Order: sequence, then C-alpha cells, then structure tokens
Amino acid sequence: MRNPIIVALDVPNAERAVDLAKRLKPFIGAVKIGSELFTAEGPAIVRALREDGVPVFLDLKYHDIPNTVSRAVEAAVRLDVQMLTVHTSGGLEMMRAAKQAADRAASEQHHSPPILLGVTVLTSLNDTGLAQVGVNASVADQVQRLARLAVQAGLGGLVCSPIELPIVRPIAPPEFQIVTPGIRPPGAPPDDQMRTRTPAEAIAAGATWLVIGRPIVSAPDPCAAARIILESLGC
Ligand code: C5P
Repeated sequence: MRNPIIVALDVPNAERAVDLAKRLKPFIGAVKIGSELFTAEGPAIVRALREDGVPVFLDLKYHDIPNTVSRAVEAAVRLDVQMLTVHTSGGLEMMRAAKQAADRAASEQHHSPPILLGVTVLTSLNDTGLAQVGVNASVADQVQRLARLAVQAGLGGLVCSPIELPIVRPIAPPEFQIVTPGIRPPGAPPDDQMRTRTPAEAIAAGATWLVIGRPIVSAPDPCAAARIILESLGC
C-alpha cells in the first residue's frame, strides 16, 4: 500500500517547515502547505520542498471567477505541486475551467497533472451557519450536492471530514481521491477537532489520504509518531 499520510505543515516559517519535511520524508506520502505558511513564505517554500523531492499538497482553497481560478491553478502547476484545492461552491464552470487549466499547464511543463480536489462545506459550518449564508439545506445534503458537482466537473477528488465519508464515497467513482483531516491516532487528544476518526477507521471508511497535523508535528519525536501511524495501517 502507498503511504497515505499527508502532514499538515502548520508552522510559521520556512526553516521549520523544511526541517520537518526533510526528517519526515521517509515516513509520509506528502506535505500540506496551507494559507498560514504560504502567506508567510510565498512560492519559495513550495520550491524548496519540491527541490527536496517532497510531494506537495497546496491547500489554498481557490474561490473566484473561472478565469482567475484558472490562472491561479496554472501558477500552482508551474510550482510542480501534486495536489491543490478549489471551492466546489465556486460552481461547475469554475471547476471545469480549473481542471482544464491544470491539465494544460501540466502538459506545457511536462509534469503529471496535479490532483485537483474540491472543498465542499467547511467543517466549521453547521446547518445554522449554512442557513445564515442562504443555503437552506442540511450540511449532509449540501455536501452531497457539491460532491456530485465535483464529480461532474471532472475533479480528481474531494477534501471532507471522515464523518462525511459515508455520504461521499458511494456517489464517487472508485478512482476519486478522498482526503480527510480530523484524524487522531487512538488515545491522542482531539485538540480543536470536534469529531475525529483514527487513521485505520478513516481508511476503512474510504479515505484515500489522511491529513494529519498536530499528532505528528507537535509530537516529541515526529518521525516516530508517523511511523506508529503507518504501522497501524499495516504499511
Ligand atoms: O493538527 P490537525 O491534525 O488537526 O490538522 C488538520 C489540518 O487539516 C489543518 O491544516 C487544518 O487546517 C486542516 N483542515 C481541517 N478540517 C477541515 C479542512 C482542513 O482540520 N475541514
């Protein structure tokens, strides 16, 4: 089995990110760069990690008009990222444009196309929060609606909570890559995650990739923490 661990590099600077990624490289499948690190350090942090041969998931959750998202996706592909995110609520046309842009830019750069992932409903929103922004559907129904749209647009996968796997997996094609945060090894503190699953539970429910931050990054020995998780998955 390939290594499904994506470590969330939720650290404030490039020095710490590069050091962690170098040490963790043998024990992980990829690293995730989010808004904090990217805003602080810019594209240079992506280039540094790619020069070290670490696969990168650039999680900037693009949400804009199709032309703007396409150009952002092209710029990300030129950085040679392996995964990136767009908001599915940006609509079918935007997602299709993003997918076309990713494929076109990858072909121009002689890279493999990145996996374009859709974000459905932010896990910080509940039914009331959705209603406040004018969506009169339950979170579950809205996640399912947006997941279907992502499949229709030809995206390569989705990011969702492990709790949503039973809603999303049945409507997705088998090759659809489902990436789940909210993962905690048995006995680990939940931190601010409300409803968590263990790595083995999430994989059993249909996750393709596990985004794991603090249980690895804040562990006294991050490599040992990642290795124990891998062993729990039989890798
Ligand atoms: O430290 P922890 O394992 O909770 O980190 C989870 C990572 O996944 C963080 O980078 C967080 O921003 C991200 N994430 C999440 N829940 C979502 C989407 C992304 O926790 N719904």
